[in-house]
Amino acid sequence: MAAIASVSRIRAAVILLLFTLLQSLYLLAFASTNVHIVYMGERAYDEPELVQDLHHGILSDVLGSKEAAKTSILYSYKHGFSGFAAVLTHSQAKLIAGYHGVVRVVPNRILSLHTTRSWDFLKVKPQMVDGILSKSHSGIGSIIGVMDTGIWPESESFKDEGMDEVPSHWNGICQEGEMFNQSNCNRKLIGARWYIKGYEAEYGKLNTSDEVEFLSPRDAVGHGTHTSSTAAGALVKNANSIGLAQGLARGGAPLARIAMYKVCWATGGCSSADLLAAFDDAISDGVDVISVSLGSPPPLPSYVDDALAIGSFHAIARGISVVCSGGNAGPYPQTVINTAPWILDVAASTIDRAFPTVITLGNNQTLVGQAFYTRKKASEFQPIVPGDEIAAADADEDSARSCDLGTLNPTLARGKVVLCFQSRSQRSATIAGISVRNALGSGVIFAQSPTKDVTYPRGIPSVFVDLTVGTSILNYIESSRAPMVKFNHTKTTIGQQIAPEVAYFSSRGPSSLSPSVLKPDIAAPGVNILASWSPASSLESPGNNQNKLPPLNFKLESGTSMACPHISGVVALLRAVHPTWSPAAIKSALVTTASVTDEYGQSIIAEGAPHKKADPFDYGAGHVNPNKAMDPGLVYDANVADYIRFLCSLGYNNTAISLMTKIRTSCHASTKFLMNLNLPSITIPELKHKVTVSRTVTNVGPVNSVYRSLIEAPAGSFVTIEPSILSFNSTTKKQKFKVTFISQLRVQGRYSFGYLIWEDGVHVVRIPLIVRTVIHYSYSDT
Ligand SMILES: *[C@@H]1O[C@H](CO)[C@@H](O)[C@H](O)[C@H]1NC(C)=O
Ligand SMILES: *[C@@H]1O[C@H](CO)[C@@H](O)[C@H](O)[C@H]1NC(C)=O
Ligand SMILES: *[C@@H]1O[C@H](CO)[C@@H](O)[C@H](O)[C@H]1NC(C)=O
Ligand SMILES: *[C@@H]1O[C@H](CO)[C@@H](O)[C@H](O)[C@H]1NC(C)=O
Ligand SMILES: *[C@@H]1O[C@H](CO)[C@@H](O)[C@H](O)[C@H]1NC(C)=O
Ligand SMILES: *[C@@H]1O[C@H](CO)[C@@H](O)[C@H](O)[C@H]1NC(C)=O
Repeated sequence: MAAIASVSRIRAAVILLLFTLLQSLYLLAFASTNVHIVYMGERAYDEPELVQDLHHGILSDVLGSKEAAKTSILYSYKHGFSGFAAVLTHSQAKLIAGYHGVVRVVPNRILSLHTTRSWDFLKVKPQMVDGILSKSHSGIGSIIGVMDTGIWPESESFKDEGMDEVPSHWNGICQEGEMFNQSNCNRKLIGARWYIKGYEAEYGKLNTSDEVEFLSPRDAVGHGTHTSSTAAGALVKNANSIGLAQGLARGGAPLARIAMYKVCWATGGCSSADLLAAFDDAISDGVDVISVSLGSPPPLPSYVDDALAIGSFHAIARGISVVCSGGNAGPYPQTVINTAPWILDVAASTIDRAFPTVITLGNNQTLVGQAFYTRKKASEFQPIVPGDEIAAADADEDSARSCDLGTLNPTLARGKVVLCFQSRSQRSATIAGISVRNALGSGVIFAQSPTKDVTYPRGIPSVFVDLTVGTSILNYIESSRAPMVKFNHTKTTIGQQIAPEVAYFSSRGPSSLSPSVLKPDIAAPGVNILASWSPASSLESPGNNQNKLPPLNFKLESGTSMACPHISGVVALLRAVHPTWSPAAIKSALVTTASVTDEYGQSIIAEGAPHKKADPFDYGAGHVNPNKAMDPGLVYDANVADYIRFLCSLGYNNTAISLMTKIRTSCHASTKFLMNLNLPSITIPELKHKVTVSRTVTNVGPVNSVYRSLIEAPAGSFVTIEPSILSFNSTTKKQKFKVTFISQLRVQGRYSFGYLIWEDGVHVVRIPLIVRTVIHYSYSDT
């Protein structure tokens, strides 16, 4: 039994998704943990030293001596909240769980990681006089804390030319380490720290013989450099990736500051004990926004067992916005992660930049794919062969057809372009590219369901086609005696592709943990995003040491990892415009102004299903619209007390919640508040007959305003609102209303979608309504 359990644990760890699609290949975590996080909620004392003494006291008591406690403890969390991480046996952990003041003892978990054009596409442009960039002074004064793989400080995106003094609310440090010292921080990169104790307690000392890595905030992977420069990179002229997507690169908030918290390591994943230490520091360092492009796949831990949910709860309580990526496990339902209601959870969308590439077959037929083929001249004709025709002796045909790793025979592949088709188990063009490259092929054509994502393997010409084009090529190969193909070089086009669409890989709702909280919240660009990269990255060429690829300073990447820092950048801008707004108000402003149509007024489409109109489980309330978010009219605000009532209604124990927040609560488990949390969305996962929920809106627009309601009821339900008109004046700033849903179905329903809009003639405040009717048992026995 033990063996089976550990095999399934390994499998669970292996499917952890790095949020950048490319990197999911290389970070495999095999965790069997003895590190535990002892979470004790809000601090009992203001002085960090006293909080730490308390931790040492408990640990000494359980372990029998002060010395044992000293060697066992990894972190004392004492700034933003109270708790510690320590190496404990199972029975010691159980013992500690019974101690006064302990909320939860949680085993360490291993998490994984999940621009130029994108900001113009979002109309975050310096030229717009009334735009959010000018109104926020490019986010000056905001500090974005990024928890990721570190940062490459020499990147041009992190130059501090023309930047003012560091904001006075900053308390952080520039922590030294391998190839990183104080002089690597400046007025742009104002802080940097690194956390490895949890990781090393799990895996032993970091072994850098296979991967380049630095024991410091320096980024050896590229992911953290990419996300930071997307959120707040300075202007870089003529940025490009091997000549494509050339243009001015800049982050969303080009004058905001960056603080890097390195919690993820090139050799595999990120430890939750390290992540929680980063939250503890970031809260007291004075960041305004925390950007986290990582997580672990379902089953989702409960909110009090999840380091990211706990850390972000305490951050929100101090007024810090927390933005997370929703995961790359789409297009399947219930795959979305980072679903706590106080988090801003981001889906990925496409932009209007495309990379069309002409493919010419030996019979002179031309077809169009997408590629990053950057040779100056068109290629010569080369032989082309399908992967399954050149399978290695021990490979099965299906794996070879998708060009899975090690399935191709190098003697047969040498010098040929290989045609590969995605399969159920092998959907990655990058894997196909590496596999063909290892088999000494000269190029790869990867046929897959339509997608705009063309994240590419380096070191081999690769063209992406849809299954129709792939099938035409296959038919040509089969009907030709000496099938040949050549590629024309890739062009970069802008504005010739309908966008946005929700990316196929973007994880979908509903939340598997609490379906009454809509997740994801919003979509932002996350496909083929150009941003800075770490030139030290060796991830591109595993087993390819014989021909090292040249270092990259900029790179196109796809993933919800890339979407998340777009929202973090916008939040930094919004906070500069509205410094007094709560994280919930900022989130509401983004959500209620999000777009559900593209520039041509057409509904946004979700990739992954044939021409499916995107729904809230694909993109939350819609696609981010930064300029509109500055002036939302009304906001659905919420504070810590609201989140506590939400936790109460989930059945968390009173004592636990009191400790978590240091606020005396006497909550009783009632499912009512689950749906009454003042979110900018209403989700009724089980509508039987009739449910009434309430919401409160706060006027942040003109003092004297009158809003009228407009409802599109989800199919199968009847919806009423009371009152249907809301008036605001100098004394009435908040108004409460009730929405009643009545089921009209007598069958087990599916989720259906509608919306509620408040309109005053200027502002359109829109929230999604999501309902699933379930059977009325009273009707059933006839
Ligand atoms: C609530 O939690 C505390 C500490 O976690 C525990 O001591 C107590 O027994 C729990 N109470 C109930 C009613 O479960
Ligand atoms: C920091 O490192 C740089 C090289 O990376 C070196 O030139 C400089 O002297 C170092 N500064 C300090 C204060 O150690
Ligand atoms: C590090 O990894 C290499 C290759 O996997 C191995 O040969 C070496 O013994 C390891 N070193 C340590 C200190 O574990
Ligand atoms: C393809 O086009 C080229 C140049 O236009 C021509 O020389 C060649 O004969 C054509 N090949 C076929 C199979 O039609
Ligand atoms: C290849 O690209 C060149 C330059 O953009 C263009 O003139 C030519 O027509 C293209 N060839 C094909 C077959 O599309
Ligand atoms: C604002 O409206 C409320 C109720 O609609 C009313 O009682 C109050 O007198 C109004 N205040 C002002 C300053 O007009």
